[in-house]
Amino acid sequence: MSTEPKQATQAGAGEKPVSPDVAAVIREQKERRAPVEITSPARTVKLEGLHAYYGDQHAVKGVSLTYAANQVTAMIGPSGCGKSTVVRCINRMHEEIPGARAEGSVLLDDEDVYGSDVDVVSVRRVIGMVFQKPNPFPTMSIFDNVAAGLRLSGRRGDVKERVEQSLRGAGLWEEVKDRLGQPGIGLSGGQQQRLCIARTIAVEPEVIIMDEPASALDPISTLKIEELVLELKKRFTIVIVTHNMQQAARVADKTAFMLAGELVEFTDTDKLFTNPDDSRTEDYVTGRFG
Ligand SMILES: Nc1ncnc2c1ncn2[C@@H]1O[C@H](COP(=O)(O)OP(=O)(O)O)[C@@H](O)[C@H]1O
Ligand SMILES: [Mg+2]
Repeated sequence: MSTEPKQATQAGAGEKPVSPDVAAVIREQKERRAPVEITSPARTVKLEGLHAYYGDQHAVKGVSLTYAANQVTAMIGPSGCGKSTVVRCINRMHEEIPGARAEGSVLLDDEDVYGSDVDVVSVRRVIGMVFQKPNPFPTMSIFDNVAAGLRLSGRRGDVKERVEQSLRGAGLWEEVKDRLGQPGIGLSGGQQQRLCIARTIAVEPEVIIMDEPASALDPISTLKIEELVLELKKRFTIVIVTHNMQQAARVADKTAFMLAGELVEFTDTDKLFTNPDDSRTEDYVTGRFG
């Protein structure tokens, strides 16, 4: 690697203005986002001409992009621009909403998730999802929260071992190993979110979608989730929706910027935040609106 200073991160004469906060994060976090060792190759997700509707409302307008395997892709943009709708189309959750429909294609490697012979349940196992508000099964113990995912997916094997592996994978094992029988909802918010991540990874998906997974959490818990995301990409393809640009800068290899249902720009995170091609991206990342 060259040791020359990276121009784009140091907004100088003739360069586009960059939010100082985000530029600092880009500089500091570059190393953290360095290529990681892939321990389990995951699959690529490709959106082609994706449109999504709620009744007559056209919420997503022809989005095409590829989420690279074993990378973290962030989706950013102002509230209501369609980020959640896009990611809910990836694992076919969008169609569960009455009156909602999607057009276009979502390819998992080259398999069409909307293909006529595709089992929706298996799609949602392969493409797991973590939501903004931690949603452990309220009546279940810590152990059963993770085991339930395994049982629901019909997975065989040593459940105890798989639960432990998943809790370790979610960075929660050390905190809960002595109280696995206690209710999942007795944990702190940040722990509950990691429990939900453990439940998601227990069934060994290929792709994990996280829709604002840390926006209900305190800063320390947020940092833990971010550390975890960087760890998880060794095994999974990660899509993370966030309204926090610094978070995108910290964790994402690539970032997609959406506005009013359209994909405005999709490129390397560093470029998107320091030298975007589109003036609307620039306005957004420099905090001029949103
Ligand atoms: N369940 C729903 N029913 C009807 N309209 C919805 C629903 N969810 C989202 N929308 C609308 O779709 C658009 C995109 O919303 P959303 O995908 O939630 O945006 P974001 O996640 O970027 O905030 C918004 O105009 C929103 O009001
Ligand atoms: Mg949303």
